[in-house]
Amino acid sequence: MTAAAGKGLEGVVASQTSLSFIDGLKGILVYRGYNIHELAPNVSFPESVFLLWNGRLPRRTELDEFESALAAQRALDPRTVEGLKGLPTETVPMSALRTGVSLEGVYDPDAEDNSLEANRRKAERLVARTPTIIAAIHRIRQGLEPLEPDPTLSLSADFVRMANGEPGTEEAVEALDRTLLLYLDHGFNASTFACRVIAATLGDMHSAVTGGVGALKGELHGGANARAMHTLLEIGDPDNVGLWLDRAFAEKRKIMGFGHRVYKTEDPRATHLREMSRVLTQQAGLEKFYEMSRKLEDRMISEKGINPNVDFYCATVYYALGIPIDLYTPLFAMGRMGGWTAHVMEQHADNRLIRPRAEYVGEMDLRWAPMDQR
Ligand code: COA
Repeated sequence: MTAAAGKGLEGVVASQTSLSFIDGLKGILVYRGYNIHELAPNVSFPESVFLLWNGRLPRRTELDEFESALAAQRALDPRTVEGLKGLPTETVPMSALRTGVSLEGVYDPDAEDNSLEANRRKAERLVARTPTIIAAIHRIRQGLEPLEPDPTLSLSADFVRMANGEPGTEEAVEALDRTLLLYLDHGFNASTFACRVIAATLGDMHSAVTGGVGALKGELHGGANARAMHTLLEIGDPDNVGLWLDRAFAEKRKIMGFGHRVYKTEDPRATHLREMSRVLTQQAGLEKFYEMSRKLEDRMISEKGINPNVDFYCATVYYALGIPIDLYTPLFAMGRMGGWTAHVMEQHADNRLIRPRAEYVGEMDLRWAPMDQR
């Protein structure tokens, strides 16, 4: 029996993908051949999803058709809405989202069909409906009736309207849309790998992405964006950063939004989010949070050699946009849904069960003893 791979499967290349590429030493992220720096300023979230699913950027008419197809799929099955209404009011949004996605899988007309065509239809419904589920969760917990989607609006604009009951500014919608693009895909990250493991049993797409939501919820993964914001609120003022960090280092606390298994340098997504955070916090009169973030970053890099990851500056972007903190991770899921579904399709297109071995380190050769002699 060979020895186990490194703890946490560090460095293990588990399989191939043509969806995204990461160079952790150079800080490069590529979607389908396009560097993220090419895409982030120029491409909308739905356009990036088209790219991921089709392997090329859409022409104008193709993008229009794709957006219309998504828009036509935004409304939830009414039984999903009823299911969400039945959850306890204190249910955390990520658990409610996991349940909402799973319920959609129960009612999906293609539920048990894993063909490429059915997967494509389900992927469209999942990307289109995740914003509707999140907005419904937010409305329901405030005692409000969920709003019906408006197919004349873009996916991001409609999410803001459905969540807040009123349209967002063009700038806010554009910023949200860009975060979704930056969250779209990222190699075999934990939640995507979870999706692929489920898909590889020939489990259906909704089962796979429900697992993905569950994996994303943890604070070592998607949950970090909300935790990063709580850290900044706890620090409270740029002048407190030094003392706060001294204590955190002494207590060997993990600073949420920092560190990455693959990137050992600047996370290229953070480059965009840092600048967005600078601009948006200034516009919102919340520049002290940007200032605090910069101070934290400077010391984390100079003393620990640890860079911020995608979640760190996304926290203040969402804060400046006025988004409730417990919706930050669901928004990560809203973007990553495009990636999870792409990975399920890729897995099903050339499938083999994912089934690694374990190195057994327990006892051997024990003998059974009757109950009264143990
Ligand atoms: N704050 C403080 N120290 C950190 C750190 C952080 N956010 N991230 C890593 N480190 C330190 C560890 O304490 C460890 O130090 P040691 O060798 O002295 O024990 C070293 O860096 C390696 O960290 P490790 O936890 O083994 O790395 P990993 O590859 O297993 O974990 C993360 C990667 C992302 C889970 C980890 O960096 C982390 O927990 N970050 C905070 C959560 C987060 O932001 N997650 C979102 C990721 S996109």
